[in-house]
Amino acid sequence: MFNMFNKLLGKFSADMGIDLGTANTLVYVKDKGIVINEPSVVAINSRNDQIIAIGEDAKKMVGKTPGHIMISKPLVNGVISDFEVTERMIKYFITKIHQESFSFLPRSRVVVAIPLDVTEVERKAVEDACKSGGVREVFLVEQPVAAAIGARLPIQEASGVMIVESGAGITEIAVISLGGVVTFTTLPIAGNELNENIIQYARENFNLLIGERTAEELKIKIGTVLGDIEREETTMCGRDLMTGLPKEVIISNQQIREAIMRSIRQIVEAIRDTVEKTPPELVVDIYERGILLSGGTALLRGLDKIIAMEIKIPVHIIDDPLTSVVRGTGIILEDLNNLKDVLLPPTTE
Ligand SMILES: Nc1ncnc2c1ncn2[C@@H]1O[C@H](COP(=O)(O)OP(=O)(O)OP(=O)(O)O)[C@@H](O)[C@H]1O
Ligand SMILES: [Mg+2]
Repeated sequence: MFNMFNKLLGKFSADMGIDLGTANTLVYVKDKGIVINEPSVVAINSRNDQIIAIGEDAKKMVGKTPGHIMISKPLVNGVISDFEVTERMIKYFITKIHQESFSFLPRSRVVVAIPLDVTEVERKAVEDACKSGGVREVFLVEQPVAAAIGARLPIQEASGVMIVESGAGITEIAVISLGGVVTFTTLPIAGNELNENIIQYARENFNLLIGERTAEELKIKIGTVLGDIEREETTMCGRDLMTGLPKEVIISNQQIREAIMRSIRQIVEAIRDTVEKTPPELVVDIYERGILLSGGTALLRGLDKIIAMEIKIPVHIIDDPLTSVVRGTGIILEDLNNLKDVLLPPTTE
């Protein structure tokens, strides 16, 4: 009887996998797939503390707000920096899902992917933010592990898998074997830092002040890390620092490359360090399987090639690298019994 009741409740509760990223938050609902894929951005009216917009609608406002509208990106380098706003954002997404799936009973369990090596306090913040959003039980998993599961890699075998998960705020490099992380390196250099590099380049070389969004668009449109490819150009628009007036200049893919290369080298060096501290048997496995790239920055043109060239190991980009982490949390959710060993222990109360 109790079992049946539980099963019935289970039908109404939406168990969820969450990738709470610096740039994007994705939510996977059991039996449904990815139902939310939105920027981690919240717009708040500071006059009455009301939320005006969350996600894509809030991102459109970035850099265009009047004084009383505050834009918050509550995650920085992969961890919660503004607890209250994160809590409200999670609550909003969870409520939205519950409304859409008629699962009014707040009994859901969630698997949340978090960066490697975060502090107890940061972990607890994630748990608390979910719980106050109406979640019954929170399980945590390390991001690269989730990404590897999302890519259906055999991480539970005695065989090394190397995954580089590079998003907006953090790059995580991990070697996984037997369901656990053997060696890893994390660095706060990823997509956002590349955007900053481009902003700085425009200022130093063109006396041009450009916005975050413009920098990101340039990076995605013509950004590359390869020197020996055909020249591509596009226009870059911003404010001329000399006159204070708008100005448009032509920028090439090679100039973008010059702007971001220092950060790319830091990522490559971190991969090299991680390989160097990995036990030799696992290095052989990695050599045979190749290094796997995941996260939005995996899509940067030529990143795979430059890593392969420098580290002398083949590199493959995971299919749909922007969703591998959340798909991994979904797979864990649907197969909790088999995969519970990959979860992190809950934080102590
Ligand atoms: N085609 C592309 N080329 C280069 N960069 C890209 C491309 N598409 C997306 N990105 C970058 O990927 C980043 C977003 O990736 P992702 O959603 O994996 O990050 P996140 O999970 O929010 O951040 P993190 O994991 O660091 O907390 C952004 O910085 C974005 O500019
Ligand atoms: Mg991420």
